[in-house]
Amino acid sequence: MGTWGPRGAGAAPGRAPWSWALALVWVAAAAGGTSRRQWPVPYKRFSFRPEPDPYCQAKYTFCPTGSRIPVMKGDDVIEVFRLQAPVWEFKYGDLLGHLKIMHDAIGFRSTLTGKNYTMEWYELFQLGNCTFPHLRPEMNAPFWCNQGAACFFEGIDDSHWKENGTLVLVATISGNTFNKMAKWVKQDNETGIYYETWTVQASPEKGAETWFESYDCSKFVLRTYEKLAEFGAEFKKIETNYTRIFLYSGEPTYLGNETSIFGPTGNKTLALAIKRFYYPFKPHLSTKEFLMSLLQIFDAVIIHRQFYLFYNFEYWFLPMKFPFIKITYEEIPLPNRNKTLSGL
Ligand SMILES: *[C@@H]1O[C@H](CO)[C@@H](O)[C@H](O)[C@H]1NC(C)=O
Ligand SMILES: *[C@@H]1O[C@H](CO)[C@@H](O)[C@H](O)[C@H]1NC(C)=O
Ligand SMILES: *[C@@H]1O[C@H](CO)[C@@H](O)[C@H](O)[C@H]1NC(C)=O
Ligand SMILES: *[C@@H]1O[C@H](CO)[C@@H](O)[C@H](O)[C@H]1NC(C)=O
Ligand SMILES: *[C@@H]1O[C@H](CO)[C@@H](O)[C@H](O)[C@H]1NC(C)=O
Ligand SMILES: *[C@@H]1O[C@H](CO)[C@@H](O)[C@H](O)[C@H]1NC(C)=O
Ligand SMILES: *[C@@H]1O[C@H](CO)[C@@H](O)[C@H](O)[C@H]1NC(C)=O
Ligand SMILES: *[C@@H]1O[C@H](CO)[C@@H](O)[C@H](O)[C@H]1NC(C)=O
Repeated sequence: MGTWGPRGAGAAPGRAPWSWALALVWVAAAAGGTSRRQWPVPYKRFSFRPEPDPYCQAKYTFCPTGSRIPVMKGDDVIEVFRLQAPVWEFKYGDLLGHLKIMHDAIGFRSTLTGKNYTMEWYELFQLGNCTFPHLRPEMNAPFWCNQGAACFFEGIDDSHWKENGTLVLVATISGNTFNKMAKWVKQDNETGIYYETWTVQASPEKGAETWFESYDCSKFVLRTYEKLAEFGAEFKKIETNYTRIFLYSGEPTYLGNETSIFGPTGNKTLALAIKRFYYPFKPHLSTKEFLMSLLQIFDAVIIHRQFYLFYNFEYWFLPMKFPFIKITYEEIPLPNRNKTLSGL
């Protein structure tokens, strides 16, 4: 995934996990304080995950059957599966074409115990809540219920993944590698807290500048594959496509954070413009309703050619460009084996 995030920063073995988490927070803060020219804007890591605000109420309980990640025997042989299933499919005119919104997860199967497991990363309060804020009359700033997290549970629902999606073996790893991955997942889950729906780019062309990377279920799967490769896993050569939701814009302008925009010393005109922009988009929607509302955004951005993006708890102005919004289902290859380790 090109320049995404702090890959590698956490790779140093033996270093206390906290120190790299804090270091990353520091790096993100330093980048934010000086020049804004670093593209894509690095996704901000936090030192811990806060309890969600009680205002945020999940319609469906997050991770109802979740469990801790078990410790595997070092010499166990673990099969790794790519799991993918459609969240929703529908056809909308010629502009957006056939939308294929897929959810991605990873499956594991222990050869020693025969038990299998599913691991995925998703929204605590559904996609709509992660994409649009609540405009609460008692609050000046838009209010977000946008946490996402990893969920690990025993079992793989074969029919769910196979029927309209994918369940395919992508790698075989040792129990040892699995345990290393489990440690990393815990860290990743505590420091990467907020869901980001949009990938923002300068244009659909290859090599176009990426302003912002999404942070969603597929990014978690891709990060995990990268980690496994780093730990020496060898992946099969198969085509692996993912859903991405793009916005296209010229160079974004930094506007400020919640306090600087919506606080007492904020620019009232800007604060109102942002709230007006979000007004038509209702966050509490089901995924199907959310996708229909995406089409409204589409109309709004075509007419006004503007978008207010919320990323890392900061607001950015996007001068939107044709083709404005696109949903693609494109290949992101499985990682290559880490050559440094191949002798082991
Ligand atoms: C989105 O958040 C609101 C506020 O907590 C909640 O009422 C609603 O159920 C959430 N939507 C979904 C689909 O979970
Ligand atoms: C990730 O964090 C969430 C929220 O704290 C928690 O419910 C979940 O069990 C964690 N997932 C893993 C795999 O540890
Ligand atoms: C996972 O385990 C269940 C229950 O034993 C079984 O029905 C299913 O086929 C297994 N799936 C995989 C991919 O191993
Ligand atoms: C698979 O697709 C068919 C036709 O769209 C649908 O009726 C069925 O419920 C889907 N199955 C699953 C497991 O989502
Ligand atoms: C390969 O592994 C070594 C040792 O763990 C690590 O320093 C290096 O960054 C890894 N390379 C890649 C491409 O992941
Ligand atoms: C918000 O921005 C202001 C001004 O740039 C800064 O002083 C403040 O620390 C920021 N607040 C947060 C929570 O990042
Ligand atoms: C306030 O925001 C508006 C809209 O973004 C902008 O046109 C104006 O110049 C800003 N005013 C100040 C004093 O920064
Ligand atoms: C997967 O992506 C590749 C390249 O991004 C594309 O050519 C191919 O048609 C896609 N496959 C499917 C099934 O959409």
